[in-house]
Amino acid sequence: MKTLKIANIPGDGIGKEVVPAATEILKTLSDIHGGLRFEFTSFPWSCEYYLEHGKMMPEDGLERLKDFDSIFLGAVGNLKLVPDHVSLWGLLIKIRREFEQVINIRPAKVIDGVRSPLLNPKDFDLIVVRENSEGEYSSVGGKIFQGEDEIAIQNAIFSRKGTERAMRYAFELAKKRRKHVTSATKSNGIFHSMPFWDHVFEEVSKDYPEINTDSQHIDALSAFFVTRPERFDVIVASNLFGDILTDLGAAIMGSVGIAPAANINVNGKFPSMFEPVHGSAPDIVGKGIANPIGQIWTAKMMLDHYGEEELGGILLNVIESVTRDGILTPDIGGKYTTKGVTDEINTRLKAID
Ligand code: NAI
Ligand code: MG
Repeated sequence: MKTLKIANIPGDGIGKEVVPAATEILKTLSDIHGGLRFEFTSFPWSCEYYLEHGKMMPEDGLERLKDFDSIFLGAVGNLKLVPDHVSLWGLLIKIRREFEQVINIRPAKVIDGVRSPLLNPKDFDLIVVRENSEGEYSSVGGKIFQGEDEIAIQNAIFSRKGTERAMRYAFELAKKRRKHVTSATKSNGIFHSMPFWDHVFEEVSKDYPEINTDSQHIDALSAFFVTRPERFDVIVASNLFGDILTDLGAAIMGSVGIAPAANINVNGKFPSMFEPVHGSAPDIVGKGIANPIGQIWTAKMMLDHYGEEELGGILLNVIESVTRDGILTPDIGGKYTTKGVTDEINTRLKAID
C-alpha cells in the first residue's frame, strides 16, 4: 500500500469550494486503485487567517509542510481583506521559493465539449515546462540618474544549472509522451543569454537521442500556439517566455477555470505544490458555480507526478466524458453547479470500479 501525505491549503474564495470537490474525487480514485491511499491534512492559511493572526501562515508554517509528499493548493487572494502582494508573497510565493519549486508545468489540450476561442482547433495536447527560479525575473540591476537621463537596467540570470535542470525535466517528460521537445528561444535578438540557452539545449539533447527536437523563436512560437497548436508536445521555456506561453495555453483551452498547474521541486528536499491556474474568483465566490475541473485536473497532475499515470489518465477521460455530455459550469457555457459537475465525475468514476 502506497500512502501519499497531502497538505490541503484551500486558501481564499473559490479555493474553499474547489479543493474539497477535488479531494472527494481523489478519495474515490484511491478506492478504485486499492493500492494507493491519501492522507489529507487541511491548513486554514488564507486572508481570513491573516486578519486573525497578522500573517498568512504561522512562523513555523514551512516547517509543518515540509514532510508532506505534496501540497494541494486552491487559490490565494482576497483584496477586500489583504493587499495582493501581502497575501501572495506571504503564502504562495513563499512556498514556491523556499521549497525550491524550480519548475512550473502547465498542460493545454482540447477538452471535448469545451469551446476553444480557436476556430475548429485540431486535437492539440501540449505541456509547457517553465524555468521557475531565475531568468528574466531577477532582482539584479538598478537605476541611475533622474529625469530625462534616467536609466533602468534589468539583468536576466541564466545559470547552467538552472537551464539544464529545466531542459532535462522537459526531456524526461517527453519520454513518457510523444517524444518531442521544442525549445523557446530568441537568440536572433537577445545577444548573450539566448545563444547560451540554445547551446545548453543542444548539449542536453545529445543525452536523449530518442527525443526529436526543434527550436523556435518565441514570437513565431506564440503565433503557432494560435495557428497550429497540434504541432507541439513538450515545450521548454525560460521564466518570462514560459509565463506568457502558459497564459496563452490556458486561453486556447477555453477557460481559466479548467487549467491546471504544478510547481515541481526536483531535488527531492521539499514537497512539490499542485494548484490550478485560476485565482480566488471573488466575483463568483459563494454562488456554488466555480468550475472544479481546474482543481481536479491539477489532482491528475499530482497523480502523474507520483507515477500513477494510468489512474491520472482514467480521471482525465472521465472529466472529458462529462464535458462532452454538456455537464458544464457557467464559465464554459453550462448551467451546472460545482457540486453537479463533481458528483457526475464521481459517479462515473465509481461506475468504472
Ligand atoms: P481569477 O482567476 O480569480 O478570476 C478571473 C476570472 O475568471 C473571473 O471572472 C473568475 O470568475 C473566472 N474564474 C476563475 N476561476 C474560475 C473557475 N474555477 N470557475 C469559473 N470561473 C472562474 O483572477 P483575478 O480576478 O485576477 O484574481 C482574483 C484574486 O485571485 C486576486 O486576489 C489575485 O491576486 C488572486 N490570484 C491568485 C492566484 C493563485 O493563487 N495562484 C492566481 C491568480 C490570481
Ligand atoms: Mg502569468
